[in-house]
Amino acid sequence: MIVTTKELFKLAYGKYAIGAYNINNMEQCLGLFRGNMESQAPFIIQISRGARSYADKRMLEAMITAADRIFPEAIFAVHLDHGDLETALDCVESGFYSSVMIDASHEPLEGNIRITRQVVEAAHARGISVEAELGRLGGVEEHVKVDDKSAFLTDPAEAEIFVRETGCDSLAVAIGTSHGAYKFTGTQSLHLDVLAEIQRRLPGFPLVMHGASSVPQEEVARINAAGGALKGARGVDESEFAKAVPLGITKVNIDTDGRLVWTRVHREFFRDNPEKFDLRDPGKIFMAEYARFIAHKNEKLGSAGKLEEVRRGLGSSGPGVR
Ligand code: G3H
Ligand code: 13P
Ligand code: ZN
Repeated sequence: MIVTTKELFKLAYGKYAIGAYNINNMEQCLGLFRGNMESQAPFIIQISRGARSYADKRMLEAMITAADRIFPEAIFAVHLDHGDLETALDCVESGFYSSVMIDASHEPLEGNIRITRQVVEAAHARGISVEAELGRLGGVEEHVKVDDKSAFLTDPAEAEIFVRETGCDSLAVAIGTSHGAYKFTGTQSLHLDVLAEIQRRLPGFPLVMHGASSVPQEEVARINAAGGALKGARGVDESEFAKAVPLGITKVNIDTDGRLVWTRVHREFFRDNPEKFDLRDPGKIFMAEYARFIAHKNEKLGSAGKLEEVRRGLGSSGPGVR
C-alpha cells in the first residue's frame, strides 16, 4: 500500500528512521520488497532522475504498482530523490509520488528558498509533501561531483529560516556525510552537535540523512578479490544511526551499499562460473542477497518489526493513505 511520507514520518519521528532505498531495475525492486517483508518494516522507495531516464519513469511506476500487488502487506511511500524544478513538478503532476525532493542546495540561500517554495506550493495543492536540502554534501550525485572544499555543513540558524520561508515538510541536512563509496579519508564522524542544534531550532521537524551508506569493508574486500578496484572506499558507521534518530533523523538514504551488493554478487558469480551466461542465475542470488541486506539495514535503523504498529497508526488517522 502506497502511503504518504508525512504519515510515516509522524509515526517514526524520534523512535526510528525509515530506510529510503533507490531502485533502478526489477531485481532491486523485488529484492527491496522481500527484504522489507522479511524484516516487517515500512520503507520509502526512491527514484532518482538518473533512474527515471535509465529505466523510463513509466517502467518504474509500473514495476512499483506490480510489486504493490505482489506484496499486499507492504506499507511504503514513493519519493523523488534529488529532483530539479522540472522533474519535481513533473512528479507532482503525475500524482504517483508520495513526496518529492527539490534539491536546490547548490543555489545561494535566496534562490534555494524561491525554487523550493515554488515546488511546495504545487505539491501541497495536491497533498504531496516536499523534502528540501540546505547545506552541501560532498561526493558524486547525478552528474555533479562536489569536492570536499565546496561541501559545507548546514547552518542551524539558516535551517530555521529556510523551513519557515519555504514551508517544506522535511529537510536534508549536511552533517558530514557525502554521496558515493568514498566518504571519509580519515576517521569518520557525523556532526551530531550540528544536528542537535538544528533539532533544537526545529523541534519535531523530520530531518533526512543523505549519503548514509556504510560501505562495508568486507564487501569492498570481496569485490576487490573478484577483480574490482575500489581503493580506500569507506562510509558511515552504522552504529551512528541510533544516535541520530533521537536528534530528528527520520529518513535515511541508502543507495551505494545496494550497488556494492550487486557488484559483489555479479563479480563473484562470473569469476566462479566462467562458463555461465544466464542472467537469471546471478539475478536470483542478487535478489536474495539484496533482501538480506535491506533486512539488516532496517535492524540498524530501528524500522524492523514496526510494520504492524504503522498499519495500526495509519488506520487510526484515516486520511493520509492513498
Ligand atoms: O544521491 C544520489 C543517489 O545515490 C542516486 O544516484 O543519481 O546515480 O541514480 P543516481
Ligand atoms: P549513498 O551514496 O551513501 O548511498 O547515499 C544515497 C543518497 O543520499 C541518495 O539520495
Ligand atoms: Zn542523496
